[in-house]
Amino acid sequence: MIDLRLDDLEGIGPVTMRKLNEAGIDSVLQLAVAIPDELMDEIGGNRESTSELITSARKTLQENNLVEQEFVPASEALEWRKSILRCTTGSENLDALLGGGVETQALTEFYGEFGTGKTQIAHTLCATAQLAPEEGGLGGGAIYIDTESTFRPERLAQIAEAKGYDKQSVLENVVFTRVFNSAHLELIIQSLAKYIEQNNVKLVIVDSVISLHRAEFSGRGTLADRQQRLNRLLHRLLRVAEIYNVAVMLTNQVISTPDTFFGDPTKPAGGNVLAHASTYRIYLRKSGRDRKAIMVDSPSHPYSETMFAISESGVTDQLSKESKKK
Ligand SMILES: Nc1ncnc2c1ncn2[C@@H]1O[C@H](COP(=O)(O)OP(=O)(O)OP(=O)(O)O)[C@@H](O)[C@H]1O
Ligand SMILES: [Mg+2]
Repeated sequence: MIDLRLDDLEGIGPVTMRKLNEAGIDSVLQLAVAIPDELMDEIGGNRESTSELITSARKTLQENNLVEQEFVPASEALEWRKSILRCTTGSENLDALLGGGVETQALTEFYGEFGTGKTQIAHTLCATAQLAPEEGGLGGGAIYIDTESTFRPERLAQIAEAKGYDKQSVLENVVFTRVFNSAHLELIIQSLAKYIEQNNVKLVIVDSVISLHRAEFSGRGTLADRQQRLNRLLHRLLRVAEIYNVAVMLTNQVISTPDTFFGDPTKPAGGNVLAHASTYRIYLRKSGRDRKAIMVDSPSHPYSETMFAISESGVTDQLSKESKKK
């Protein structure tokens, strides 16, 4: 994407510059497409000064003929999509369900009840992402954004060791951050791009993506506000995934909908906002000692399901005897 740095914009003082950077805006294009009310919330000031700032960014892009250059030929888009990488989960079954593994330039959401393996998949991916692309990895490090205090370096070390990887180097290439509330999560997501670029990160995990927003915005009256903030956060994540060719793995909880008469009464939390934002949605269920994964939503795969297991080496295909008999 052709873009200008904020410094190229005339008349922005150092304080505004800092506030814009803090709001995750580093370029003229990002400012030009900002939503006035959101920006006002984020950087303070009044409506008039915020609109002026956005207008001046738009004018600058137009004067430099950059808007026309935003049109991308499909052939070029195809080239960029060819750079998509797929990260192995450690299970051939699960990889096949995903069309080869967890994809870059996409948001992949795993949802399911407690103990269905969401966090185990996340830990396994942190290790496998570091393999070279020819070996099924993404050739880069991982960021683990932990909202539930369930990231365990010991478990990552155990998985790496069981797989015969260099344990120390695997641990060094995974950074994690413990998130305390929804505003903290939003702040971290705003700052992701720079970190990813500087540290060759190829995988971002958010475990779990909406638990904090759910806990904090519980009344009916605050639902619209919650969904709007969640929407903003998810779109930031998708943009980062596309621009930096990064895989984003989200975990999500389920809610029970007792008014369902037919079928399974459990649904993923997060409503339409998360449903629209996730490129792939995989529903995890327990099945005896093993796990069943169901591809619920995908732009290119049919509805399908498969089985996998969790062992010392993380996600595997080694199903229990009971599952094999079925
Ligand atoms: N070292 C291990 N060896 C074998 N199985 C393990 C190991 N560690 C965890 N497990 C399995 O993984 C399960 C926990 O899965 P996980 O923590 O991924 O669930 P989750 O879907 O993230 O749940 P929650 O919604 O509570 O976060 C355990 O119940 C156990 O069956
Ligand atoms: Mg978990």
